[in-house]
Amino acid sequence: MHPLQCVLQAQKWGPLASVSWLLLRTCRALSNLPSTACPSPEKQQEDGVRKDFSSRLATGPTFQHFLRSASAPQEKPDMEDPPPYVTVEELLGRQRKVYLETYGCQMNVNDTEIAWSVLQKSGYLRTRNLQEADVILLVTCSIREKAEQTIWNRLQQLKALKTKRLRSRVPLRIGILGCMAERLKEEILNREKMVDILAGPDAYRDLPRLLAVAESGQQAANVLLSLDETYADVMPVQTSPSATSAFVSIMRGCDNMCSYCIVPFTRGRERSRPVASILEEVRKLSEQGLKEVTLLGQNVNSFQDSSEVQFNNAVSTNLSRGFSTNYKPKKGGLRFTYLLDQVSRVDPEMRIRFTSPHPKDFPDEVLQLIHERDNICKQIHLPAQSGSSRVLEAMRRGYSREAYVELIHHIRESIPGVSLSSDFIAGFCGETEEDHLQTVSLLREVQYNMGFLFAYSMRQKTRAYHRLKDDVPEEVKLRRLEELITVFREEATKANMASVGSTQLVLVEGHSKRSATDLCGRNDGNLKVIFPDVEMEDINNSDVRVRAQPGDYVLVKITSTSSQTLKGHVLCRTTLKDSSAYC
Ligand code: 5AD
Ligand code: SF4
Repeated sequence: MHPLQCVLQAQKWGPLASVSWLLLRTCRALSNLPSTACPSPEKQQEDGVRKDFSSRLATGPTFQHFLRSASAPQEKPDMEDPPPYVTVEELLGRQRKVYLETYGCQMNVNDTEIAWSVLQKSGYLRTRNLQEADVILLVTCSIREKAEQTIWNRLQQLKALKTKRLRSRVPLRIGILGCMAERLKEEILNREKMVDILAGPDAYRDLPRLLAVAESGQQAANVLLSLDETYADVMPVQTSPSATSAFVSIMRGCDNMCSYCIVPFTRGRERSRPVASILEEVRKLSEQGLKEVTLLGQNVNSFQDSSEVQFNNAVSTNLSRGFSTNYKPKKGGLRFTYLLDQVSRVDPEMRIRFTSPHPKDFPDEVLQLIHERDNICKQIHLPAQSGSSRVLEAMRRGYSREAYVELIHHIRESIPGVSLSSDFIAGFCGETEEDHLQTVSLLREVQYNMGFLFAYSMRQKTRAYHRLKDDVPEEVKLRRLEELITVFREEATKANMASVGSTQLVLVEGHSKRSATDLCGRNDGNLKVIFPDVEMEDINNSDVRVRAQPGDYVLVKITSTSSQTLKGHVLCRTTLKDSSAYC
């Protein structure tokens, strides 16, 4: 058997063909190299296991088996029916302790819980103590070079931990999950021999099998991207019982192909989770007493559930005025407005947010719903990326500066008092000083409440990598980024100043990190609000004085602000429904 069994599956993607890998990489001892080529003591210790594994592998799956697995639309390994080269027994976690470490965006935080949910079902235990871990899994991010560098550095530390591991304990297994596994694939296995498993963002159901293979000293990987995996039936485990809010993943992947972005290559095509399973999860969270749900997706407002045929009519999606897509218009299915409406009806005391949206998918009906419904937060993230139409075109964002500004005005008219945030990239390919000043002027014009600003980082595979030149020197990128941050802060401070004297509804999260005598929570616009932890009146029971607890809604009168935080004093405990009369 060849040491590297791999299946390549080309996914059709308009004019582009992306390649996905499902590979099972065996150790040199299984190839025609002499077994002395695997000299580490840990590996020698595992020889017996490996021999047994080799003989099973020899009589195990054929190349056809992998082809079948790869072409199945949704490979869901089943404990009842393991692949022929691992037994049901080996798929079980046998109380091994897993330490999960998350990097990157909120999607990764959610994916960590999905991965954990899969492993928990398979008999693994979770530990928060690195030293007692039998398996360490890093859920990684590839969006910028720096994010990947952090993982490479972390792997060096883990290498030392693995080497020092006592012989008396089971060998430590290390896995790379998520975007970096998907982007770099076998490069990671080649560069870091201490990595045992790789699992791309659509392969978390396969973790028990990958770990079973790793048990015998082999490296194992599944980086196959799926067209329909949404983990709809894998409820993430609510790991923090005191939490007031949770994230609910509603869709995965992205079809936009903005020219700078690696996400479509690491997370694959856009697909949405069925509405019914989303509502079931939100209902469960409401029953657990959670007070806030954030709907999550790479392109959250382009949600389209086509699983129920009766809704698959020929009606095209409404886009924001002046916006276009890089793909053919999507037709039919249950859309974001419908989902948002349904989710917000589950529990009127539960706040609903969503992230991250694309500005193209804000038709009037979404704006109207946000305006009308008390428990949908008046907070919109509207990633602009640049204030220059020329750069926006090079980025393939599908809108001009003018269309974006018009949308901002329209949103502000439709949802008075809305809080706005954005993402910007400094120093994209070909960005001139004039383009940069246009971005500065957009920041001044819009006066965002929150912002996420980044220096451009060229990513292989993207359109910009193939077609454009990363020609803005690093020091210029950083200088421009600094300028954007300064302007953003000045404008956010001004925008937040306007709230001094207002009364805001705050969902209490707990004590402030800086002071045990203060409480901390978030207002409707998702800004942090700090206020003294004192007794207060309960609006529904004026006979008692209460202290606010995590999960309570309180009214806070704002007395001072900075660019990131509001401060004030608490007026009373209330409910979301009752608060509308005061805010
Ligand atoms: N370089 C810098 N920033 C990037 N982003 C996405 N790709 C890159 C890149 N190659 C930023 C965008 C996006 C946010 C999540 O990350 O602003 O909205
Ligand atoms: Fe990346 Fe653009 Fe998709 Fe956002 S919308 S994930 S920036 S390709």
